[in-house]
Amino acid sequence: MSSVKQGELQGKVALVTGGASGIGQATAQLFAEEGARVAVCDINLDRAEMVASEIRAAGGEAYAVQADVSRAADCEAAIQSVIGRWGRLDVLFNNAGITRRTSVVDTTEAEWDAVMAVNLKSVFLMSKYAVPVMAGQGGGSIINTGSGWGLVGGKDAAPYCASKGAVVNLTRAMAVDHGPQQVRVNTVCPGDTDTAMLRNEAHQLGLADDALVAAGDQRPLQRVGSPREIAQAVLFLASDRSSFVTGAAFVVDGGGLA
Ligand code: NAI
Repeated sequence: MSSVKQGELQGKVALVTGGASGIGQATAQLFAEEGARVAVCDINLDRAEMVASEIRAAGGEAYAVQADVSRAADCEAAIQSVIGRWGRLDVLFNNAGITRRTSVVDTTEAEWDAVMAVNLKSVFLMSKYAVPVMAGQGGGSIINTGSGWGLVGGKDAAPYCASKGAVVNLTRAMAVDHGPQQVRVNTVCPGDTDTAMLRNEAHQLGLADDALVAAGDQRPLQRVGSPREIAQAVLFLASDRSSFVTGAAFVVDGGGLA
């Protein structure tokens, strides 16, 4: 008989980008429930502080750190902040992201650059500063955020699809490079999930805010996902339960690609 069950992330330190909303918020909360100390990192400091204080009110350990993850100096400072506070980093969830619902013809150069910077360059930058820390302590787990649309094309979302496809293959390259240092790197590929982003996308398409949530009834499981359901998959990739998994793209989409 084993002893009393411990949290899946007991004793671990995690940083979640985009932790102030949606999938990042749900994951920060779940990580804390599973015993991790969590840095809630976001460009929106007020909301990140709110999420961190909710976690503390529920008995967990968390604090907010502000960063624009498309900026190298902010990424380096965020990692340094966590090391300064807790002395290690075991899990990095690169989750912050934005979307623009446009074809290449309708996308401005500035929109293209913004989507690439927040969705893709951020993964490079945060990982650049996190990997040496993880390698130095004997390993770690990085989870990058792709999308179902990082694996197949989607309508009127060309820069977004390009950025997410690149995240999937950047993940594979990082898994090859850093496997020998026991740093595992995987992508979670959510399908449509009920967050502010999905409502914002509907707005960009000129639809009612809940139109894309409602369209989930066309999927095999007949609904969109909840942030908590994506967080459960991220927890698996973060925890030692996935100790032989690296370079993978884990699709969590209710059968959306079927
Ligand atoms: P959300 O809009 O609810 O949350 C995104 C968070 O990222 C916000 O708190 C925002 O302040 C933060 N953020 C934006 N730009 C930032 C920057 N430059 N630096 C730091 N933080 C920044 O979005 P959601 O839906 O939770 O999305 C999370 C991730 O999941 C994104 O990468 C998104 O592309 C991906 N995803 C979402 C899907 C969905 O249907 N909601 C489907 C597939 C992937």
